[in-house]
Amino acid sequence: RIAEESERAARIVRNLLAFARRQTAERSPQDVADLFTRVLALRTYEFRLNGVDVEMAFERGLPRVLADAGQLQQALLNLVLNAEQAMRGRATRRLEVGASYVADAGAVQITVSDTGHGIEDGNLGRVFDPFFTTRDVGEGTGLGLSICYGIVRDHGGQIAVDSQVGVGTTFALLLPAYMPTAANEELLVAHTEQGERDYVAAMLAGWGFGVAFADNASAALARYRAGNLGAIFIDGGIVAGDVDAWRAARQAKGGSIPLVLTSGAAQGDVAKFGREQAVALLTPPIELRTVRAAVQAALSHDDFGDGRADANETSGVDAAPAEAGRRTGSTEDSTSQSGVSRTGEYV
Ligand SMILES: Nc1ncnc2c1ncn2[C@@H]1O[C@H](COP(=O)(O)OP(=O)(O)OP(=O)(O)O)[C@@H](O)[C@H]1O
Ligand SMILES: [Mg+2]
Repeated sequence: RIAEESERAARIVRNLLAFARRQTAERSPQDVADLFTRVLALRTYEFRLNGVDVEMAFERGLPRVLADAGQLQQALLNLVLNAEQAMRGRATRRLEVGASYVADAGAVQITVSDTGHGIEDGNLGRVFDPFFTTRDVGEGTGLGLSICYGIVRDHGGQIAVDSQVGVGTTFALLLPAYMPTAANEELLVAHTEQGERDYVAAMLAGWGFGVAFADNASAALARYRAGNLGAIFIDGGIVAGDVDAWRAARQAKGGSIPLVLTSGAAQGDVAKFGREQAVALLTPPIELRTVRAAVQAALSHDDFGDGRADANETSGVDAAPAEAGRRTGSTEDSTSQSGVSRTGEYV
């Protein structure tokens, strides 16, 4: 009963947070270093007062990210406030923030590290849950990180945490790097579940593609037949209703528009259709790296990227159906630091 009630409360809060975010969604290309510097400026006084050393490491020439500046700053501020709180009364108080380009995910990675008390193993999987807090009554609502998670996801990104008790904590955000192309063709995202559809669409839009949506099979087919699409991201659930209609529609178009099938099913009609027709299969959970690989399999090299030197290095993806399954968010940083025992998994 109590579990039911708290699940209900959590659901209400999730909806409220989603609603609040949608009210102001207004995105434009943002310079992460500039944005983060302005967040830190808000805390300059407290940093000095509490003896917190701040180190910044922003890679030069970073791509921008398509973001609502206010929301992204809110997310970063929540991470900074948590770091400050975790370092209260600790001997070493060092906050390291930075950003770098992660070519294989086509993403800007933002990191926030502290030398605070750390997070116990048992709590690591719960910190993004609404109302999860270890603070005393009246001290924290436990909403900071759930807001952060929601904002990151709305932007087509991922967030991960790494921590070692007594040593410190690192939060890492991956956000699509904004690299618009001249192409005016849209990418179609068709999925019956709004959450999944919005997530894939936010990634694609974050990279600078124009996106069209469909939430049912007939709308998806109609948009497909209308043309001017660079690629289509169709969920198995959309195809399942009428595989033959999709086959016919693709034949009518010469099968020329690259299809990425998002589906967990390995067998049956839809899977067969995927093997015949898809340039890539995306299996849940949807992640930046795997969607990026699928986009690259789908689009010809010329249409792709903004000419950044290292963006080109990521093109070695097979055009054959690529099993784009789960990969954890291990980065060079988090695996090479001897002091960090666990590798954060992007959620
Ligand atoms: N940098 C960090 N170091 C150690 N623990 C952390 C850190 N960030 C978050 N946590 C843990 O995760 C919990 C949840 O964080 P979250 O920001 O969601 O809520 P809160 O800080 O407790 O409350 P609120 O943000 O609403 O004031 C914290 O109570 C704390 O236990
Ligand atoms: Mg907090």
